[in-house]
Amino acid sequence: MDETGAAVRATAPVRPGAPAAERHWWAGHEDALPDGLEWLSARERARLDAMRFTKRRNEYLLRRWVGKRTVAARVGLDTDPASLARIELLNWMTGAPYVALEGVVAPWEISLSDRAGCAVAVIGATGSGAGALGIDLEIVEPRSEGFVTDFLTRAEQDWVRGPAAADPGLGRDAAANLVWSAKEAALKVLRLGLRADTRSVEITVGSDLLGDGWARFTAARHGGPVMPGWWRRDGVYLLTVAAQDDLDPPTVLPGATDVAVATPVHSWVGRPLVTPGE
Ligand SMILES: CC(C)(COP(=O)(O)OP(=O)(O)OC[C@H]1O[C@@H](n2cnc3c(N)ncnc32)[C@H](O)[C@@H]1OP(=O)(O)O)[C@@H](O)C(=O)NCCC(=O)NCCS
Repeated sequence: MDETGAAVRATAPVRPGAPAAERHWWAGHEDALPDGLEWLSARERARLDAMRFTKRRNEYLLRRWVGKRTVAARVGLDTDPASLARIELLNWMTGAPYVALEGVVAPWEISLSDRAGCAVAVIGATGSGAGALGIDLEIVEPRSEGFVTDFLTRAEQDWVRGPAAADPGLGRDAAANLVWSAKEAALKVLRLGLRADTRSVEITVGSDLLGDGWARFTAARHGGPVMPGWWRRDGVYLLTVAAQDDLDPPTVLPGATDVAVATPVHSWVGRPLVTPGE
């Protein structure tokens, strides 16, 4: 069942030519969001219509559009509104997203995140060995001592206040945001989100560059798995991806926004509530 309680039709077979165990990512900025809502399915539109807060609504739309464009770019589908409406980004009861193509659950692992007008998605093929995925996007912003103490483990706090703070290429605030983002990505892999205590996952950050700006981290769940992860700094944004299984870092798909030069926007601020009937 999905989050609406509706029965979900069986998973479609993997298409011929579907990828092996590899992951890809894509990014979009809200400036490029299509006009109109014809690119949403009826189910997506019904969920949108229940949202009264502009921030929630904008973020939902941006994540849907980026998720759809990511699937389209990966599979080679058209991106006109009618074609995008046939790619649905729906949610399981946990809140984790899944893809349906023409109403049938598609064999893809996908994860979504947005921050300040930018959204990202990572995609991999189910059953290919790529495993569950989690992605998170943050901007580097000041983080209080209380934030570091309350949400990070002792080892993470020591790293943020010590070596990371002294590293001219990183600094305390970027390190605190990076650890936070890596936790969110890992908790998405586990399908828990912030229902879990953020200190139940411990992040260890690496700095060796792997190519295309990615570096490694690991996320160790207390009493559970150690998940591999990758992070990159793009301008004011930090991007993290965590996974169930270890592979190369994700490869960017064609047409993605260059996050490094994207401008953070908070377009909902002047108009927090949606007018009924909109
Ligand atoms: C996962 C979570 C930490 C992300 O919050 P955030 O940092 O504010 O937002 P992000 O933009 O990074 O991510 C949002 C996306 O995370 C995904 N997500 C939500 N819950 C998830 C979960 N349990 N596992 C994996 N992914 C999840 C969704 O795709 C969501 O976007 P969508 O609702 O438009 O599909 C947060 O949504 C959470 O803790 N959710 C679980 C608790 C909850 O109340 N869930 C509602 C159940 S319906």
